[in-house]
Amino acid sequence: MENIFKDMDNESLIFKDKSFLDHKFLPESLPHRNEQIKLIAKYWSETLKNKPPSDITVYGKTGTGKTAAVKFAKQQLLDYIEDKDVLIRIEYIRCTDYNTEYQVIVRLAQQLGLDVPWRGWTKAEVLNVFKRVFKNKIQKNIILIVILDEIDILLQKDGDGILYTLTRTDNVSVLSISNYVEFKKFITPRVTSSLRDKEIVFPPYNALQLEDILNERAKMSFKINIDEKVIKLCAALAAKDEGDARYALDLLRTAGEIADEKGGSNVFEEDIRQAKERIEHNITTDIILTLPTQQQRVLESILHLTKLNEEISSGKLYEEYKKISTGDSLTYRRVFDIISQLEMLGIISTSTISRGRGKGRTNIISLQCDTVLLEDTLFSF
Ligand SMILES: Nc1ncnc2c1ncn2[C@@H]1O[C@H](COP(=O)(O)OP(=O)(O)OP(=O)(O)O)[C@@H](O)[C@H]1O
Ligand SMILES: [Mg+2]
Repeated sequence: MENIFKDMDNESLIFKDKSFLDHKFLPESLPHRNEQIKLIAKYWSETLKNKPPSDITVYGKTGTGKTAAVKFAKQQLLDYIEDKDVLIRIEYIRCTDYNTEYQVIVRLAQQLGLDVPWRGWTKAEVLNVFKRVFKNKIQKNIILIVILDEIDILLQKDGDGILYTLTRTDNVSVLSISNYVEFKKFITPRVTSSLRDKEIVFPPYNALQLEDILNERAKMSFKINIDEKVIKLCAALAAKDEGDARYALDLLRTAGEIADEKGGSNVFEEDIRQAKERIEHNITTDIILTLPTQQQRVLESILHLTKLNEEISSGKLYEEYKKISTGDSLTYRRVFDIISQLEMLGIISTSTISRGRGKGRTNIISLQCDTVLLEDTLFSF
């Protein structure tokens, strides 16, 4: 019998090194982010004069290069000060990993070489030890820059105590990254007054900018030259969808994988289109599978009525939903809330139609995803 790995060990005709298309890869150059990177450098350059820099807030939608640009600036500063007589520490913290003030402070303290345990101490004790570093008792003139990536997660979960603490510690400067423009509504006035931050906005990329980004990565990742038309299509699709570089790179990588699966020797426009479908398919499936039971039941009712070619008003949907969820159905009001939630997730859409004079208006619901895909997903377990 042939070894089961034999077929899988074929060398790809398409990829040279897929890891350059990976989310984790940090490119050495970031086209179209010069302006933002220079601003960060301008503010951070204060540290070279031994002064703590202003706090910075970085805003922008997903995939606009915020994390990549900030990490790039961090590395540049660290490289630059290597042989200089300044004591600068830059700590990157992803608030999805450390999502309370306590955890962030413990992490920072540990990074500064302090012996602080993960549990057992009170917050006050941890804060005390951390703040002592900056009272010139342990390390003279240290400047600490704290990068809080995805800060909205921390603020929502644990309030703005972390910003209060950090902005009120001498020689500490905060750079927060948020993709939620209104994240400051989580910040109370006591913090606003000490957070005198500079704001830097990362706009979505347009199609031409995405082409530059894609071209650079394509050269590193693929064995073959990818046709300009293919890159253009990939950039156009991603530009239409929020100007998200991560999505553009995902499309290109998935298209390469599809071409590989076909045993092809290049990536074509058709592969990009199929990649788009595959990515959307995966996202929809993930969303549906993680919905709570009652939401799945509402969706099941919409699916059933759709297959019967019925026009779905909220009233009719509620009737159908009650049939499906015998015994433990929610109120009409709650089902109405679920309809809005499903609409926000992009799985369904609603529109209001007028029944003619004096007859009022009705909300009509329609499915926004493939019925076969929905049915397979809902009934797969
Ligand atoms: N200007 C650029 N040049 C090259 N690659 C880029 C550029 N901007 C973003 N990328 C790449 O796109 C992907 C997404 O970028 P990044 O993670 O920095 O986005 P983000 O703004 O932090 O998104 P999120 O808000 O979802 O965290 C990364 O793989 C990154 O390397
Ligand atoms: Mg990010």
